[in-house]
Amino acid sequence: MIPRLMTAPASIDEVKRVNVRYHDLAAAAYDLKWGIGYGQLGRRQVAGKLSRALGGGSSRFERGLEVGAGTGYFTLNLLRAGVIGEAVATDISPGMLSTLEASAEELGLEVEAVRAEAGELPFPDASFDLVFGHAVLHHLPNLGEAFAEFARVLCPGGTLAFCGEPSRYGDRLAALPKRAALLAAPAWRRLLGAPPRRHQEELVSDGAKGHGRLPHELELTEEQLLEWVVDVHAFSPGDLDRHARGAGLESVRVSGQELTASWFGWANRTLEGTAEPEQLPGLWYHWAHRGYLTLQRLDRALLEPRLPAAVFYNLLVSARKPG
Ligand SMILES: C[S@@+](CC[C@H](N)C(=O)[O-])C[C@H]1O[C@@H](n2cnc3c(N)ncnc32)[C@H](O)[C@@H]1O
Repeated sequence: MIPRLMTAPASIDEVKRVNVRYHDLAAAAYDLKWGIGYGQLGRRQVAGKLSRALGGGSSRFERGLEVGAGTGYFTLNLLRAGVIGEAVATDISPGMLSTLEASAEELGLEVEAVRAEAGELPFPDASFDLVFGHAVLHHLPNLGEAFAEFARVLCPGGTLAFCGEPSRYGDRLAALPKRAALLAAPAWRRLLGAPPRRHQEELVSDGAKGHGRLPHELELTEEQLLEWVVDVHAFSPGDLDRHARGAGLESVRVSGQELTASWFGWANRTLEGTAEPEQLPGLWYHWAHRGYLTLQRLDRALLEPRLPAAVFYNLLVSARKPG
């Protein structure tokens, strides 16, 4: 299925359908693409994000539900870290859930994987003491319905935590390094001796997304076309706060994460997008990964405690169900 170019907003059903297709296509290579791992680094990253969403410290939950669990980045790492005792992982994409199940088996973890749309969770009221997710809210076309479901399946006193959501202002700021990277790309490729990617001058990188350029339908892969439909929101801290309160949750807390690390990461991904991936030296990926982790630490120590949530690239929200 190749959709028409979106000149008008897609309908709710279309967004859901395209999300299934896009993530089914992405599932096999997803962990590699995003550097997802289940070792010590993955556990530390995920437990750190959840702890930051909750305002610090460590917590333990008996029964957690992940919404949009994908290949298992959060669920599997949180189980391994002992932060949750039991987990149900849901996702709209069967492809993502198959990858999650395969990883769970490899790691010897027990996870119930259930195909479900965020706005229609097939669980009784008050079933979980933690409802969580990572990088999923921005894909949900009907957030009011979804938050009402999260609140419904939470036990009284239960916790909601979503991390890694795109920040509207943070995203605008990140467009600058993406554009700078596009300008620097020819010199960068010469330096690494990497040939340009075929049709790269036609590819609409993330750096151009949202700046008035439309992709040339015939030149793009199906995945690249679908990408234009799957992301339906970028948030301000106030948006997330409103959705949580609107569902009757309290003690709502919104914070921001990653600034220089995201600029560095997006600049590198934009550069990489202009070259044939298999022609790039392994050392480049090593350098890019180490640099990203170093800047993440710098952001955490210096910037996150001082700057307003809105300027960061990722937003995190947590809240509690009364009772
Ligand atoms: C960007 S991926 C993040 C996956 C995973 N949470 C992670 O951090 O690696 C977004 C996930 O949300 C899922 N998703 C998209 N729309 C959804 C919906 N309406 N209901 C449930 N899951 C959805 C996608 O299939 C995908 O697995």
